[in-house]
Amino acid sequence: MSYEVTVEPTGDIVEVEEGQTILDACLRQGVWLPFACCHGTCATCKLQLLEGDVDIGDASPFALMDVERDEGKILACCAIPESDLVVEADIDVDPDFLGYSIGDFEATVLAIDNLSPTIKGLRLQLDRDIQFQAGQYINLHLPGVEGARAFSIANKPSDANIVELHVRRVPDGPATTYIHEQLQVGNELRLSGPYGQFFIRTSAPEPMIIIAGGSGLSSPQSMVFDLLEQGDKRQITLLQGARNLAELYNRDLFEALAAKHDNFTYVPALDAPLDEDEWAGFTGYIHEAAIEHFGGQFSGHKAYLCGPPPMIDAAITALMQGRLFERDIYMERFLTAADGAESATKSALFRKI
Ligand SMILES: Cc1cc2nc3c(=O)[nH]c(=O)nc-3n(C[C@H](O)[C@H](O)[C@H](O)COP(=O)(O)OP(=O)(O)OC[C@H]3O[C@@H](n4cnc5c(N)ncnc54)[C@H](O)[C@@H]3O)c2cc1C
Ligand code: FES
Repeated sequence: MSYEVTVEPTGDIVEVEEGQTILDACLRQGVWLPFACCHGTCATCKLQLLEGDVDIGDASPFALMDVERDEGKILACCAIPESDLVVEADIDVDPDFLGYSIGDFEATVLAIDNLSPTIKGLRLQLDRDIQFQAGQYINLHLPGVEGARAFSIANKPSDANIVELHVRRVPDGPATTYIHEQLQVGNELRLSGPYGQFFIRTSAPEPMIIIAGGSGLSSPQSMVFDLLEQGDKRQITLLQGARNLAELYNRDLFEALAAKHDNFTYVPALDAPLDEDEWAGFTGYIHEAAIEHFGGQFSGHKAYLCGPPPMIDAAITALMQGRLFERDIYMERFLTAADGAESATKSALFRKI
């Protein structure tokens, strides 16, 4: 049993299987809709229902208020059709978004590395090639863990059937604890992707500031590898923040790239270096390192931020105080279930895109 959903104003028609959400069907059939969290809390995927019946699913009351429900608004990531539908979407596709279709993949674990005391690197081989834009993420299923978890792809898109992930262990987090304690080389996992709208605006001429915190180096690493591989000549500054030296993983790799490419600068910062680290670099939070490096003036750049929500919020404040507009800042917040529960009760500084 399936239903036909017509998406206005484009007139695209998708087949939605019983129990499938409108967003999932659209993304799998190459019809792009705006989305971010995929679980009913951010409201990015809001649609107007024009005709038909839906089950609105698990939409948070903060993302879809009662008055909006009465007006026929629905969230594409939660809504399940109960008849053929006509919906209207606010589709404003960025010209630099390539919109690769989402697929399901079987993955074999090729390698597991200890990148830092809290972060493991996974190298997965997929059963076929995956097309993605640097900065996008996959949803990974793990044995005995309900639902899927988002992890950003750390390798470059030209690697064809390989996906590398940087996974930070979250205290009491079922998926990341499984990866850190039980996952073995040779194990098989299921994943889907690519997801997300965190990608480099390739048509923008401005120099780039890329800020990464913790395992939030994953997407920036993919972006930097891809940009340098493509021979991009814009100035790229990567700022990587970590607590101490042991947590500052892949530093050698970026120092080597900075030595090789005139247009790439690498700025590491530690906010809690240990005595034995003998750290001579910047000490403080990564947004403070950015303020020092750029003299507090960020206008004329595009900024890409990736990592835990508090780091992103601090970086946004610093960038905007340094005269960078909201429209020039792109970000990926590494939300956990705890953040998701919290964000349903308060509004975000501004929407992730
Ligand atoms: C787009 C995106 C990309 C990401 N990329 C990366 C990446 O590249 N690398 C990376 O390391 N991480 C990344 N993350 C974060 C990663 O998805 C989370 O760390 C992941 O969800 C952790 O899964 P888990 O099962 O270990 O813990 P979760 O199930 O997320 O639980 C985390 C914590 O929240 C608590 N909790 C669960 N439910 C609730 C509740 N209702 N209220 C309060 N507390 C609760 C749990 O007990 C636990 O302590 C990304 C996240 C997003 C959204
Ligand atoms: S993507 Fe649907 S509410 Fe966030």
